[in-house]
Amino acid sequence: MRILIFGYGKVGKELRALIHERRGEVPELSDVQIVATVTRRGISLGDRDAFVADEPFSLDHLEKLKPDVVIDTASANYETGEPSLSLYFRAFELGASVITTNKAPLALRFWDIVERARKNGATLGFQGTVMSGTPSVNLLRVLPGSRVRKIRGILNGTTNYILSRMAEGIPFASALAEAKQKGYAEEDPTLDLNGFDAGAKLVILSNFAMRTRLTVRDVKLEGIVNLKEEDVAKALREGKKPKLVAQSDGKEATVRVQLVSQSDPLYSVDGVENALSVETDVQTITIRGPGAGPRQAAYGALSDLILLKRGALLLP
Ligand SMILES: NC(=O)c1ccc[n+]([C@@H]2O[C@H](COP(=O)([O-])OP(=O)(O)OC[C@H]3O[C@@H](n4cnc5c(N)ncnc54)[C@H](OP(=O)(O)O)[C@@H]3O)[C@@H](O)[C@H]2O)c1
Repeated sequence: MRILIFGYGKVGKELRALIHERRGEVPELSDVQIVATVTRRGISLGDRDAFVADEPFSLDHLEKLKPDVVIDTASANYETGEPSLSLYFRAFELGASVITTNKAPLALRFWDIVERARKNGATLGFQGTVMSGTPSVNLLRVLPGSRVRKIRGILNGTTNYILSRMAEGIPFASALAEAKQKGYAEEDPTLDLNGFDAGAKLVILSNFAMRTRLTVRDVKLEGIVNLKEEDVAKALREGKKPKLVAQSDGKEATVRVQLVSQSDPLYSVDGVENALSVETDVQTITIRGPGAGPRQAAYGALSDLILLKRGALLLP
């Protein structure tokens, strides 16, 4: 199995390391061969310890290198989804499948991507886009035949960390500064604080679980920017906690602060941890785990690669 890794930063490098570590013990990985890695600097041909740009990358490299799978671990572009989007479309035309940890293309053009994959007999894995290595997308893969009524989750670790600290009496500005200092928040945390990041993940889950046709522009985003310290204090007096909940019932998708009570499975999810509740007609299932981390995201992509090899990475 020939793979091309597009975007070779923290996640891409961890993915290569995981493939090397697990190749001897996971039969599905025994024939995996990294044919190239790509960054903005160009393409590094073969599977090398050090990234050396051999030449500028172009989509024509796909014809030459004939990867079976393109793995996208490049940075997100929420304006257009490019260059990943064009890369996927060309890969599909050539019969290659795509695995991604980059959520932007799917948050913008989910069904276009799925339909192009289907038309070309290819498939698509995206566990690493939501909750990294904690099975969210791939949890839904093992619930065939169930009717998902609602999904509800804490899908952004930065805001959950800030809200958890605020519930401990720390003011918003100090909690944000702490999150930055610990590396949980970007220097510009706007897309976390305004709910956009959680909204992008919600779109992916909602479209996959409930066949909604959402893009991130359809999600009602409130984020935590309007939350006041008095609201937090009031919630605590009532025995509740404020949580930034991303929720879709198939009709409406929102990312807003909910005051959750102790009986809510999201109540005890604190710090940078993430959680997802899937409500089906049969049962409600809640999972929790790390929502980020390069190794975790790389594991999400690796698990997709193994499922693909088993023929279990089906399109929605
Ligand atoms: N880190 C996490 O915990 C985590 C968790 C889940 C999902 N993700 C997602 O996974 C992706 C990678 O994250 P990361 O932490 O590995 O980011 P990163 O360390 O910043 O690496 C991003 C890589 O993408 C490359 N890249 C960016 N634009 C490109 C372009 N136009 N053409 C080719 N390569 C391009 C960069 O190239 P240069 O090296 O030349 O800059 C770099 O190698 C992101 O979409 C992120 O949202 C990350």
